[in-house]
Amino acid sequence: MTAISTEMCQTALVVGASQGIGLGFVRQLLQDDRFERVYGTYRRPESAQGLLALTARQPRLTCLPMDVTDEDAIAAMIGQIQAHTLRLHRAVYCVGVLHDGEFQPEKSLRQVTGENLLRSFQTNAVGAALLAKHLMPLFKHDQPSVLAAISAKVGSIGDNRLGGWYGYRASKAALNMLMKTTALEYARRCPQTTVALLHPGTTDTRLSAPFQRGVPPEKLFSVERTVAQLMTVMDGLTLADSGEFFSWDGTRLPW
Ligand SMILES: NC(=O)c1ccc[n+]([C@@H]2O[C@H](COP(=O)([O-])OP(=O)(O)OC[C@H]3O[C@@H](n4cnc5c(N)ncnc54)[C@H](OP(=O)(O)O)[C@@H]3O)[C@@H](O)[C@H]2O)c1
Repeated sequence: MTAISTEMCQTALVVGASQGIGLGFVRQLLQDDRFERVYGTYRRPESAQGLLALTARQPRLTCLPMDVTDEDAIAAMIGQIQAHTLRLHRAVYCVGVLHDGEFQPEKSLRQVTGENLLRSFQTNAVGAALLAKHLMPLFKHDQPSVLAAISAKVGSIGDNRLGGWYGYRASKAALNMLMKTTALEYARRCPQTTVALLHPGTTDTRLSAPFQRGVPPEKLFSVERTVAQLMTVMDGLTLADSGEFFSWDGTRLPW
């Protein structure tokens, strides 16, 4: 049995839906008749114009403001969802930061700072664990569901041959451990929910834009392609896959 069934009337949540892969997921979910309601979170209206414009045309979409560094905001956002529905069937954590102005991935230990490491951890890892914590009541039901977090292959410790990007790599490795541990607890408390980590492949978004130069065109995916590939992976998951780390083509990645 696949984790996500073909049943109608499902609900989905995309966290970090303002742009990039998250916005792509919202667009894809709205075209999928299985989902009767889609929730998308954004941090600031300035960078969420595409998402907010969609709500005018899409009555199935609800946009909710939320910064993942604020646990009270996460709890309040989930409270708003609970006011309308008792069940969630798919949630995808698409939040991530690699660079932002002066904040840049470290090429060397000389550039490592505690402040920047903590920023990477808070956004890329801690937010996902807090989300999983507060989402638990919405996954306590008897219908097959998926909670996925977008990780990155560079977070694989076994696959790290190039070095650099200390904060991003370590925060994605932390995300992987937090979600693996979540999967074990969800197996007891939300036993129909598969928890998975997904590597999207290099995708043409703000996050990858400064690093696309050496990427061959066939290895640089459009957001639409990445989302379609990751939806296929999620649709094929079973409970036996919970706590695993998958690449965009469905293959397993080393920790
Ligand atoms: N693109 C790639 O090649 C690639 C490769 C491997 C993994 N990934 C992963 O894929 C995920 C999506 O990235 P993307 O490529 O779509 O990047 P993106 O276009 O930069 O989107 C990142 C998203 O994270 C949100 N965000 C950042 N900090 C936040 C916070 N504190 N609270 C709430 N939301 C916050 C952003 O919101 P704002 O608009 O408010 O900034 C935005 O919606 C990330 O986890 C990234 O690490 C991407």
